[in-house]
Amino acid sequence: DVTEPFELVLFGAKGDLAHRKLIPALYNLHVDGRLSEQGNIWAITRPNTEQSAYIEQVKDWVRKLGAEFDEKTWKAFSQRIKLVGVDLYKAAGYSKLAKKLNASGNPVVYYCAVHSRLYPVICEQLFAHNLITEHSAIVLEKPIGNDYESGMVINRRVAEFFEESQIYRIDHYLGKETVQNLLALRFANSIFEHQWNQRYIDHIQITISETVGVEQRAGFYEGTGALRDMLQNHLLQLLCMTAMEPPASMEAESVREEKVKVLKALKPIVGADISECVVRGQYGEGISEGEMVPKYKDEPGVDTHSTTETFVALKAQIDNWRWSGVPFYLRTGKRLAKRACEIVVQFKEVPHSIFEMQHKKTMANKLVFHLQPDEGVSLQLCEKRVGNHMQVRPMVLSLNQSDQDKNRVPEAYERLLADAINRNPTLFLREDELMTAWQWVDPILNHWQTSDQRPDTYTAGSWGPAASTLLLAKDGRLWEENS
Ligand code: BG6
Repeated sequence: DVTEPFELVLFGAKGDLAHRKLIPALYNLHVDGRLSEQGNIWAITRPNTEQSAYIEQVKDWVRKLGAEFDEKTWKAFSQRIKLVGVDLYKAAGYSKLAKKLNASGNPVVYYCAVHSRLYPVICEQLFAHNLITEHSAIVLEKPIGNDYESGMVINRRVAEFFEESQIYRIDHYLGKETVQNLLALRFANSIFEHQWNQRYIDHIQITISETVGVEQRAGFYEGTGALRDMLQNHLLQLLCMTAMEPPASMEAESVREEKVKVLKALKPIVGADISECVVRGQYGEGISEGEMVPKYKDEPGVDTHSTTETFVALKAQIDNWRWSGVPFYLRTGKRLAKRACEIVVQFKEVPHSIFEMQHKKTMANKLVFHLQPDEGVSLQLCEKRVGNHMQVRPMVLSLNQSDQDKNRVPEAYERLLADAINRNPTLFLREDELMTAWQWVDPILNHWQTSDQRPDTYTAGSWGPAASTLLLAKDGRLWEENS
């Protein structure tokens, strides 16, 4: 399936996201023949950037991060890229852009891969230059705002120029194959739905762990931290996909409606519960992937007294019939022991055990969605060990997505870029989803801002602060890698 014809205007075309994700994803779509022949990428950079130097840089990104590279394909792809120098606050660049875009009749997608405080500025200028029509769409990267208040201000301002149906708030975790497979497993199989509730599920763990540190992104990260960068969006979105009621269809409104209901049912974490249920950490020095790495405070661009968290873990509760009493433990951090993203659905023990378990391990079933580094699903069951006894042992049934299809598993941004071009909003966030998520994390952010308590230091290359282990231990549970 090839996309509709398009003009993609990429704000932040030299930035980290364009480099690591967006350009490689566009290149991969091109390689797979999934981009319309009538599709141009307008790379918006600072006014003095040279087209040839930029194209060389992009070639380098694509060579390193694209699915496969050959000169002929690259040449065809590079011809789609047109550089436009724009000072985002000044009219001149937008006038140039307007002349070029007006020459094409294709619908335009504006992709904002810049700081969210610039979204209103971009919208005002696009409007002033007649660059917004009913066929335009705008993609907004997360985090939108810094808290509820600022998120609301940005959303309101953007809404003055674009209808809600033209706004695509992206969370790339929703574009990951396994997240969509989670929906398929839940709603295309009748065996799970009956068990998917507090009667059978003990608890759920969602982990996004990274081995990288802050890298060259201190300018962004210092004012952001793990709660805003990962939990308010990616982790809460994964929680919604795991916990939502079956939507009536895969139409955007059905899916979003169910997700927002979950966010609204999240029990607020306020007052004393914040210290009880939330762990905040910052990495110290240590060994990460075999190399000695510095502490966060020694990273380039980081304040030596920084209290920005690079790790957060918390216990969330959903106050509804399905999930009453089932904790959702969420955690994410940089410089952790390994790069992984997993959703672990831990079922309860059988009501009465009649077998002896090998190594006295738990018998409870466990369904694990692996999103990273490899995508797949595994189900832990129990089976009898061969022999003249009745001892049982855990065995794992695995579904690996790359086994199913010999083609490579597409990157999340490939799916989402194509969806935005084709105007399919199902995997993008509606305004009320975003604002409900901010509303829920705001008390935690406020508490951290006003308390003089600092984040716990954890050793780089570990699984985070001891308090994170304790968070589960208090409830008699263990994080997945320790179980
Ligand atoms: C981004 C965060 O949204 O997600 C980054 O801003 C993080 O800090 C990244 O590294 C992780 O994405 P992925 O797909 O590589 O796990």
